[in-house]
Amino acid sequence: MVVPKVSKRATSVPSFKVMDVLQRANELQSEGKDVIHCEVGQPESGAPKTVAAAAGESLSVRNVMGYTDAFGLIPLREKISQHYINKYKDIQADSVDTKKIVVTTGSSGAFLLVFTACFDVGDTVAVASSGYPCYRNISGALGVEIANVKINSEFKLTAKELKTEIEYRRENNIKKINGLILSSPSNPTGAMLTPEELKGLCELCDEEGIQFLSDEIYHGISYGKEEATALQYSSNAIIINSFSKYYSMSGWRLGWMIIPDHLVEPINSLQQNMFINAPTISQTAALKCWDSETIEELETHVEKYRKSRSIILEELSHIPDIKSENIAPADGGFYIYIDLGQENIAPGFGSVAMCKALLEEEYVAITPGIDFEDPAGDLGDRRFRISYAGGVETAKEGLKRFRRFWPTWIERVKNAK
Ligand SMILES: Cc1ncc(COP(=O)(O)O)c(C=O)c1O
Repeated sequence: MVVPKVSKRATSVPSFKVMDVLQRANELQSEGKDVIHCEVGQPESGAPKTVAAAAGESLSVRNVMGYTDAFGLIPLREKISQHYINKYKDIQADSVDTKKIVVTTGSSGAFLLVFTACFDVGDTVAVASSGYPCYRNISGALGVEIANVKINSEFKLTAKELKTEIEYRRENNIKKINGLILSSPSNPTGAMLTPEELKGLCELCDEEGIQFLSDEIYHGISYGKEEATALQYSSNAIIINSFSKYYSMSGWRLGWMIIPDHLVEPINSLQQNMFINAPTISQTAALKCWDSETIEELETHVEKYRKSRSIILEELSHIPDIKSENIAPADGGFYIYIDLGQENIAPGFGSVAMCKALLEEEYVAITPGIDFEDPAGDLGDRRFRISYAGGVETAKEGLKRFRRFWPTWIERVKNAK
């Protein structure tokens, strides 16, 4: 028997390392170990009660589970449109016209649509390093090249860093950047662009003809800083969002995009052909997402994240080896990203080995930076991410064990130097 080939594109896509950590954590758990999950970025809370009830009810209605329009149910798009008008300053009604709102199969489905609609094989998309790994991996699968742009000392990619990259490429005759994809609040850093910084990026992208894809999936989960959407500053930007994080509906595979006029037709055709539509049951239930009862419930989750975040930051402040400036700002989302610094690593004793040892010895799962960093650099083995999506008790216990583990670990690092 001859086994048919696997495409070069598919074999070139690396695995998502956090899933490898999760797999080992689950193995240990099945052996009866008391594993603390601080690796995955999904809310421990289920979907809002109103949403779950609506899904149940809709199952009993005949025919409700047929296809919808490619762009999704009109009432849901109307609610999304209204959400922008209610939440953000200076949103013009025509910028959130329902004809420009696309309900997608999670934001991951949106990435596939926009990457296909906006970029050709061989085009270049800029990503922040540190940044969400799937941007890089999806680009690779579609033959789109990546320009890794280093974040600044505040753990952000701003217009300044992007401009430096653009100029470097210009001076060195390197292909121009065609797109930028960025999440604010960021996964993994939690850093959030200020409205001025976001405006600066939008303006630079507009000047340079760069398609800006603004991943706003962590909006709603922030701790005092103003959330701004790229929609406020550019009519070319594509806004990507999801029900997976704030709305606590990760498995419902539902997200949305707001796209510029010139992309409506191409994305309509792509969605029809690739997905037909986002899951109808999820769309139907998501109509409840902005009910006051739902928002009340969702805000209790944000309070829990806020509590977990301060527990972790407080515990980390008691580890003098970890400098406060090496902890990313954690303005939003549910991650704390830490740079161990060159002084706290040794050959074979970087963050990858540390995360492994922590899991094997203390049964605490956290994620090394390799998923999030430029694979050509060495920061992936210096940085790591703690997720606090798993609840207050998880954060407490995880950090208690981490603090118990740290002195034994740093001793090993010193011996290896
Ligand atoms: C920054 C960012 N964007 C997108 C996603 C994908 O989310 P989904 O496809 O569930 O909407 C994630 C998931 O962790 C993420 O962290």
